[in-house]
Parts: sequence; C-alpha cells; structure tokens
Amino acid sequence: MTERPWDHEAAKRIVASMTTSEKISLVDGRAGFPVGTDGELVTEPPGGLDRASYPAPGAVGCDGYTPAVDRLGIPALHLCGAGVGLTDMYTQRRDLAESTVFPSAMAQTASWDPSITYAFGAALAREARAVGVNVLLAGACNLAVEPWCGRLFEYHGEDPLLSGIMVAGEINGSQDEGVLASIKHYAANFQETGRFFIDTVVSERNLRQGELRVFETALEHCDPAAVMAAYNRINGTYACENGYLIGTVLKGEWGYPGWVMSDWGATHSTVASALAGLDQEFPMGHFFSQQLADAIQAGQVPESRLDDMCARILAPALTLPPAELVPLDVERSLAAAEQIAERSIVLLSNDGVLPLDPSTPGTVLLVGGNADRAVLSGAGSAAVQPRGGDPINGERTDYNAFNRVTWVPSSPLAALRAVMPAWEVEHLPTDDIDAVLNRARDVDLVVVVATQHTSEGSDLPDLSLPDEQDALIEAIADATDDVIVVLQTGGPVHTPWARRVRAVLEAWYPGHRGAQALASILIGAVNPSGRLPVTFPASSDQLVRPGPVPIPIRPGSERPEKVPPHGNFDWVDQPFEVRYDEPVGYQRYDQDGLVPAFCFGHGLSYSQFSSGEVTLTPESDAVVVEAELTNTGDVAGIEVVQVYVALPPEAGEPPLRLAGWSIEPLEAGASTRVTVRVPRHRLATWDVEAQRWQLQGGTYTFRVGASSRDLPRSATIDLPESQLPTLAERRRST
Ligand code: BGC
Repeated sequence: MTERPWDHEAAKRIVASMTTSEKISLVDGRAGFPVGTDGELVTEPPGGLDRASYPAPGAVGCDGYTPAVDRLGIPALHLCGAGVGLTDMYTQRRDLAESTVFPSAMAQTASWDPSITYAFGAALAREARAVGVNVLLAGACNLAVEPWCGRLFEYHGEDPLLSGIMVAGEINGSQDEGVLASIKHYAANFQETGRFFIDTVVSERNLRQGELRVFETALEHCDPAAVMAAYNRINGTYACENGYLIGTVLKGEWGYPGWVMSDWGATHSTVASALAGLDQEFPMGHFFSQQLADAIQAGQVPESRLDDMCARILAPALTLPPAELVPLDVERSLAAAEQIAERSIVLLSNDGVLPLDPSTPGTVLLVGGNADRAVLSGAGSAAVQPRGGDPINGERTDYNAFNRVTWVPSSPLAALRAVMPAWEVEHLPTDDIDAVLNRARDVDLVVVVATQHTSEGSDLPDLSLPDEQDALIEAIADATDDVIVVLQTGGPVHTPWARRVRAVLEAWYPGHRGAQALASILIGAVNPSGRLPVTFPASSDQLVRPGPVPIPIRPGSERPEKVPPHGNFDWVDQPFEVRYDEPVGYQRYDQDGLVPAFCFGHGLSYSQFSSGEVTLTPESDAVVVEAELTNTGDVAGIEVVQVYVALPPEAGEPPLRLAGWSIEPLEAGASTRVTVRVPRHRLATWDVEAQRWQLQGGTYTFRVGASSRDLPRSATIDLPESQLPTLAERRRST
C-alpha cells in the first residue's frame, strides 16, 4: 500500500476560510449531467438547451460533480462510474464517450493476483485523466452472497479476504496514477431486486466475519479517498444513516480518514444521515442542500459536522494533480486489458483436448455468442460505451447504456484465425440449428460460446444459461464428441452438460482483448492460471435462495406509473427483510457437505504442480506457512498455492476458511519454496460481547493445495487465546 499524503490540517485550514454556501456546494454532490426542474434525470436536452451546451457547464459529463472553489484552490470533482472501464460519459463528443472495456471485476479476481487489479486500476485512472474525470466510482466489493445477483460481475467473489485484497489492488492502482477512488457499496447490497429499500438482516458476527471483513481487509491494504454507502437498509437502518456502520465501525474502530458519499439517490434524511457520518449526498440535492444549511441553523446538526465533512473530502482532493487532460495511450490500455484477460480465464475442465496444436491442420467450427464479432459485457452503471463501437447493436443513439446489452468489439473468430493459420476456422449463427448440427458432425472440433447477460438493477431468475443455450450445447454434444464450451458470464452458471464436452473455459466478461486472450489460451501460448473466486453449484437445490427474494407488495397497492430511477420508493408499503444467517459460498458447501459442480479456488493448468510437506512457524503476530512446490508438467505455468485453515472446534466456525495464497510462476520441472505469511487476525472470530476480534485458543490445522477441495498437505499448530488489535490500532503500529 502506498501511504497517501493526505494533509488533514491543511484541509481544516481551508475549511476555516470557506463560506457556508461553499461548504454546502462540496457536500451537496450533483449529477454531472443535467437534471430537470423536478430532479428527474434528463436523457434528452431539455427545452432551451441546445445539444452543444449539454451537459451543464462545468461538469465534464459524468455521474457526479461538485464545483471548484477557485479562490481557495479547491478543485472541481468529476465522479464517474468505472466498474470495468470508464462508463459512458454524457457528452456529444464520441471520443470522450468511448472507453476501453476491461475484464469484469469477477474476472480479474479469478487471477487471485492483486498486481492484476492494480494494473486495471492504473489503466482506468489513465483513461479517466484523458477525459477530465478525477474520482472513480469503482471498487465495488460486496461479498458474492447470491450467485444470481445481477452485479456479481462488478464484485470480487465470495471470500472476504480474497475480495478485500483484490479490490485494494485496484484502488491503489488508480490512486497511484493521480485519480481518487471510492470503495462501495457499504454495506450488504446483496441482491438487486428491491435494493432501494430491502432490509438486509444479518447477525453481528456474520456481518463482521463476512461482508464487513471485505471492507476491513481492503482498508488494511489501501486508502480509498471515498467510501460509498449503499442503497439498502442493514438491520433496520438505511446504510446512509447507519451510525453503527459509518460512525462506530468505519470511522471509529477502523479509523477511516476519508469521506463517505451516498450511492446515487440512497440518502433518506438530512439530520440522521449527517449525524450518522454521511459526508456527501449524490446526486439530486434532496437532503444535503438548503436542508442541511437549515438544520445547522436550527442547531440540529453542529457546524463542526459540516466542517468535518468538508475536511474529509478536501484532504484527499487537495492531492489531485492539476486539472488538465492527459492524452491516453490507447494501445497501452488495450495491452493491459489483454494481459488481465489472460490471467482471468479459468479452465474448468479439460480431457486433454487443450491446448490445441496450431500447426496441425484441422477444422474448427465456432458457434454462439456473436463469436464472429464480439464478446459480451455487463450492464448498469458499470456499462461502458466500448471504444470502436458496439459491433452488434451499432452506434449508440442515446446517452444511456445503463439498460442495454453491450457487446465489445473483440472477435473470437478473427482471433482464432490469427493464431491458428493452419486450421480452417468457421463460424455459423445459431438461428439455423440444423446447419450447425450438420456441420458439427464434419469438423474436428466445435467451440460453443455460451453467454449470460447480467445487469445492475435486476437479478437473474436462476443460474441456467438463458435462451436455451443448454439445449444447444446438448444437441451439439449429441452430434459430435469434440466440443469445447467457452462461457462468458457475470458469475457462476449451471453446467449440466459439463461431463459431455471435452473442455470448459470460463472467460467471464473478458473485455476489449478478451478474444485474443482466449485464443492464446486455447493454443497454449498462455497457460491458464485463473482460479474460481465463486463456487459453481451443481444445481439450484444447493442454494439457500434459488433466486431473488421478490418485493412484497400489499395486495391492492400499486406501483405508481412513474417511479423515479432513484429515490422515493414509498409505494412499497410492506417491510422487506431478508435474513442472511448462513455462511457464504464454499464455507456453506463445506459445512452442509454439498458437492458443487466446480468449487471455490478451482482452475486447471496445462502443467501439473505438486507440493511437499507443510511447515508452520509461529511469529508474534502471524503463522508462516511454507511448502515446496514443483511444476511436474512439461510447460511453464502459474500455480496459485492456496492455504486454508480449520479453526479449533470451540470456535464454532465452518470447516475451512481461506487464510492466504501465493502466485507462483514456475518453469517446467522447476521447484520453489513457497512462503505464505498468515497474520493472526485472519484466524480470528468476532467476539460480540467484547466487541473485538479474538483468537480462539487451541489447535489450528493449515491445509495447502490447489483449491478449497484439493488440499493434500496439512500441518497443525497450537495457538494461545488472545484478543487482537483493531484495524486502527494495527495501522497506528505500522
Ligand atoms: C450504482 C453505483 C454507481 C452510481 C453512479 C448507482 O446506480 O449503484 O454503484 O456508482 O449509480 O454511477
């Protein structure tokens, strides 16, 4: 982690010179695109505004904006969604609207390598600086509790440690390139259905050890300028006015020094939010505008709170480089996108058909997924207007990609042809299934690209591939034995045909150079090293909730005709609580003895690795795990050595928890000594009574291997009971 040179004292001195209206302009964040007089989002220029002056003067045309205060050297803030690239800007200038699409966050997390998310964050920041964006609304890291959640592609998997470390890589990458970053959505935004009012009910211990541990881990490894508070309620209170989450935990126990902004339209009050610790509202000025000034005037919110809000924003904002556009090296961005994609693709199964030999002539038929032209991406506020245009839907005709299915110009057909010149690579559309099946019988190999589109704002009904793609794969598998399936999905899907095909690859949403990365992996120019950051269930029966919990609406009550995109959801007049009592992901599968289709941490390589005896060495605040690792295969490869720990039974925890890992590139036949340092707090449980992390005294079993279900080596160590320091205390001592 690079320590940020935030000067809170300098920020406070500036705040002391600000007028109340200047202070309010900083905390009353507005849309970077125009809103109508009723506060509704405007997607067409309102009357009287010509297109040339749209968006509003001052804003570069993105999600959020606060004006500069030139006399005090306070920069304008331009905040832009950036889950997988810079989201499409609200501008007529095509060169500013289009951005590079990077592999999704879920894809990046499959690399298990924070230098990969760092590379993404840095590339993203360079894209931002080219168009005048200086705050990235990236860093989405809600725990992947529900595999059908529409935003899984933006999140970093089902394990808190993995998720926190991976998102921190991204934030460090962005901030090191001079662009501020936020982490979001604090906290427990687990399902999209009803997200504006759902009440996530979760026990303190589960919350601390699950979702909050993601944020705590991230804040241990990075200093995001901002934390975005979520839409939903947590244990009865909206995230933006949740004093426990923001005041007690984030700013108190964790000592978080930056600012807390609302998600877009997630603020529900002035006084309660201000007192709970919210520092900035977006984007409509409903609560932190004149209302906040009035509340201060009336003595309901102390002026010192407003000063604190401003100082928290200014301290990081003062580190921003001068507001000038820095030309983008597009090729560099695309190269980063390709490198990230190469590391994120997961080889789920392979009977030896892969890698393909590019020099042996043969015929391959590519089917499905618009594979002649594009790869898929996810939708919502993370949707990017792809550089070079969407080859399937053509040029955009409006300003809003939020609800669209966007395809990215990266052609698997062209990429395969380029790397396999001795092969004939054909493509057939799936609308004539007979033609596909006839041709499938004659070629040497069929590669089926199967896709699943997902989006913010909605969830999947279930995990089956849509549009009868399962039936298509089965029909092709009936016609020929030589089938490879390439998945492009937001998260896990059902793979009922997996045993009938020769290989399955998970490519996620692979971005602008996804096709090239895929081709490199298919021919073995790149040895796959991705590992699953989420469990693939064998069937819906294995899920706690097989699909999204529906919004309860009292009979007779009606959804109004015009529902604002964000904001007032008073028409939902029923409590909407969802309880999350179970362990998440692999921990629940392990606890309940369920056998998934593909387990957490799984991923094959074209090499084989074997590890030797495990040794454990206690240190004052850690356990050092060591083992010999050998690449016993014929080719160089990268192994992700995974360390899991079983806590003493008295801790009452699920059988295993991820404790650390190491990325090990190894030449064929080479060996290395792998060292994974496991700080003690990774072994801790949350003591509700003492309100602290505690280490249970007893025997800890460390298990080492290639996935959560392939852990051939283990060793034990006895550790004494102890109470552990808080994050703020840990940070003060380093
Ligand atoms: C999303 C946030 C996003 C914001 C602004 C909201 O709909 O939940 O993640 O940053 O829009 O784009």
